[in-house]
Amino acid sequence: MSLDDPVIAPVTQVQPAPAAAGMTSRFACFVTGTDTEIGKTLTSAAMLHALVKAGVRACGMKPVAAGAEKRNGQWHNDDCDQLAAAGNVSLPQSITTPFLLQEAAAPHIAAELEEQYISPVPILAAYIEISAASDAVVVEGVGGFRVPLNESFDTADLAEQLDLPVVLVVGMRLGCISHALLTVEAIANRNLMLAGWVANETQDDMPFIDENIQALEDRIPAPLLGRIPRLAEPSAQAAAKYLDFTKLPNWPAV
Ligand SMILES: Nc1ncnc2c1ncn2[C@@H]1O[C@H](COP(=O)(O)OP(=O)(O)OP(=O)(O)O)[C@@H](O)[C@H]1O
Ligand SMILES: [Mg+2]
Repeated sequence: MSLDDPVIAPVTQVQPAPAAAGMTSRFACFVTGTDTEIGKTLTSAAMLHALVKAGVRACGMKPVAAGAEKRNGQWHNDDCDQLAAAGNVSLPQSITTPFLLQEAAAPHIAAELEEQYISPVPILAAYIEISAASDAVVVEGVGGFRVPLNESFDTADLAEQLDLPVVLVVGMRLGCISHALLTVEAIANRNLMLAGWVANETQDDMPFIDENIQALEDRIPAPLLGRIPRLAEPSAQAAAKYLDFTKLPNWPAV
């Protein structure tokens, strides 16, 4: 070999990624909804319940929660408590909910009242920690898909930064078709994958419920994971009976 020979970089052996090597990929998704109070927590908890039943380490994350009360020296939020109860990975609340706000108001307003500033960095860092401790992560958004978190960052931006497949919960009520389709459009505009949707019958006897669900099925380019009826006693376990999560990407094989 002379100094005039071309320099060729040594060829290094590329190791296959764990998924390619036959290991099960991790499951993770971002649960959003057509509105606030339409069943995101119920669906997320049902998903965690099903994941635990499938034998994996499953953890819920509610990155931003607004509305908390102090009990026995610890701040509690209903959503955080329900997700923690449904999963089987125990992590400090400061990791599963980096922004726990006391006031039950729009997050950017509650944050300002408490002189906090919601930014993505602590959320993304916490998400990495949760992922490291779990096989499956279910992230529940706050309110609807475009709820602001600060002056230039909203829930949709957070979903985009986490880059997770999205599950949309539709609260079945008059007006939900447009809310659902606008949300589907916003998800697509961010090049996020809409992995599935859930029809949650938040009210008894919605007129034309079947026709409304059919109209959504005809227009939403993702599988319907199930219809949760109005439950007398809503719980993760009860809701899970009506949902088939196996259509979601990387759902663990039982
Ligand atoms: N199918 C159902 N049957 C009976 N009650 C339901 C049903 N779905 C939701 N609920 C009840 O409605 C309330 C709101 O549901 P949930 O907390 O899941 O909504 P959410 O979208 O997570 O709200 P938020 O925006 O506050 O996070 C809860 O009390 C829940 O138990
Ligand atoms: Mg909730």
